[in-house]
Amino acid sequence: MSVLVVGSVNADLTVRAHRIPGPGETVLGGDTRTSPGGKGANGAVAAALAGAKVSMVGAVGDDAFREVALSGLRRAGVDLGGLQTLDAPTGLALITVSDAGENAITVASGANARLTPDHLPADFSPFTHLLLQQELPPEITLEAARRGSAAGLTVVLNAAPTRDTAPELLSLTDHLLVNEHELAALAGGGESETSARALLARGPRAVTVTLGGAGSLTVTAGGTYRLPAHPVHAVDTTGAGDTFCGVLTARLSHGEELAVALRWAGIAAALTCTRPGAQDAMPTWAEVQRESERLDVVPAP
Ligand code: RIB
Ligand code: NA
Repeated sequence: MSVLVVGSVNADLTVRAHRIPGPGETVLGGDTRTSPGGKGANGAVAAALAGAKVSMVGAVGDDAFREVALSGLRRAGVDLGGLQTLDAPTGLALITVSDAGENAITVASGANARLTPDHLPADFSPFTHLLLQQELPPEITLEAARRGSAAGLTVVLNAAPTRDTAPELLSLTDHLLVNEHELAALAGGGESETSARALLARGPRAVTVTLGGAGSLTVTAGGTYRLPAHPVHAVDTTGAGDTFCGVLTARLSHGEELAVALRWAGIAAALTCTRPGAQDAMPTWAEVQRESERLDVVPAP
């Protein structure tokens, strides 16, 4: 019933431009926007909005970006007892969002990169679910998975951003979530379901591939779940994957069936794409439910 998130906390500095510049190129953009982000904090906020009791282990610096970075976590009521203030700048993500709603992100990890296994809680037993991503130093993520798994927690890994994922981390993961790029990096390309099944053989009990506008695919030993795309007008996809992971973890922590939890996650992630920002764009649970009812009354094509 209670989710622990060990992950990154950033301030996002976003500018919109007609398109994302290539190497050596300058494009003129619009206004800038500063908002709370970080794949860890985004997942924590999404899980809290979806009804979970959430605690966060993460780090910020003692600087001007600190309060921006923490604002979404505070608003969502995430427990920040495990938050560290370290002698480094608060993590900062430089984001360009194109007219098509796509983004390119560069993360200056700052304080996030200073977290070590010593910053983990001594006792994981108050929690039932552990949500991890790959934006912290691999040592703390792996140690969190070890301790969480040993304490009987369900370990959910959002394998974003792409980086070397230790085989041990995969073997300790119960539910692995990847997008198509991360899937290719981990499984070496090929057809999605075949690749996802190859990852299943490396430890997880479930592997979900989020396919952007094409919905999601989940494989388990028992079967395959394909969720159709949820049709929305995407203005900014930042944080959609993190929303998916947070909501899925929250609903699993409520004891929901995988197929049901996946459906909520897909709806919430799609709604996050309809507004600018990451945490600022995430839907309330009431909005997710309303959207679900609206879908139920739309006749099949
Ligand atoms: O996944 C989106 C997130 O990636 C942004 O909020 C940014 O902070 C980076 O961590
Ligand atoms: Na968004």
